Amino acid sequence: MRPISEKRIELERQTGKHKLRGGWKGLFRWEDMDWLERQIEKGLRFCGFYRLGFRNLFDFCVEEAELSFPNLPDAFDGLRLLWVSDFHIEPLDGLAESLVESLRPIRYDIAVLGGDYAFHYDLTEIAVERTRQITETLLSRGAVYGLLGNHDRYEMGLLLEAWGVRMLVNEEAVLEKDGQTLSLVGIDDCHYYKSDDLAAAVAGLDGDPFRILLSHSPEIINKALPCRIDLCVCGHTHGGQVCLPGGYPPVVCASVPRRYAKGLWRHNGMTGYTSRGIGASGIPVRFCCRPEITLLNLRCLR
Ligand SMILES: [Fe+2]
Repeated sequence: MRPISEKRIELERQTGKHKLRGGWKGLFRWEDMDWLERQIEKGLRFCGFYRLGFRNLFDFCVEEAELSFPNLPDAFDGLRLLWVSDFHIEPLDGLAESLVESLRPIRYDIAVLGGDYAFHYDLTEIAVERTRQITETLLSRGAVYGLLGNHDRYEMGLLLEAWGVRMLVNEEAVLEKDGQTLSLVGIDDCHYYKSDDLAAAVAGLDGDPFRILLSHSPEIINKALPCRIDLCVCGHTHGGQVCLPGGYPPVVCASVPRRYAKGLWRHNGMTGYTSRGIGASGIPVRFCCRPEITLLNLRCLR
């Protein structure tokens, strides 16, 4: 795992107090309005909806998508990539155990932990222990790659790596099979810390391999275009987390149009998938937006 940038080190010291936007714009940015979240939480508790929303966090589903590419090397035809992210695990008693049970029957080849393991910006023992529980289950079944999200401390990345996860912080990992290669490019958080460095991540790549970009947030999409990324997989948005019936998200905490906030999308020729993730931030509830284990099946299009 590469060391994180000076910028991220400094912002991590501020433990979430750094505003994403200064001035009057910061006053109306959802992620900077803790006071409003607390009022909504009180309202939900008063109306009896809080418990329902909390229960919804345990209603995982497996979202499978088959994605075909003309340039996917034959050796990787049928590769199954599992993505789980955004646990925000501390307030969710029992979630780690439920998730482990849901993961057991799923067949996959490689697993990716997409970041935001913690709920709080300070790293707590409970976040570490519960993340370890999920991670060990995945590690017992094969290679696991990991990213840092905007709720994570560098120390969490070091712990994940010590447990056996290959952390990708502005770096790539090359998979080889039958003499063919595929590149996994992982970048640091581009949402809050803005410490992504895609140019550095792809600098060492020889030739023109099939490239999968792993990013905590879809806000990387425009920077990804010049790097000839074949597939971009991300999370962070929680699919809106609290949606209207039918799944429309009134709030998406990412500077991207809503069509990139969940599920499959295309952006100027690049295929992408944004996972709704597992947990919840702000208020630990979900409505009309089930938590998701993502399973992408990559196929050769010939
Ligand atoms: Fe996030």
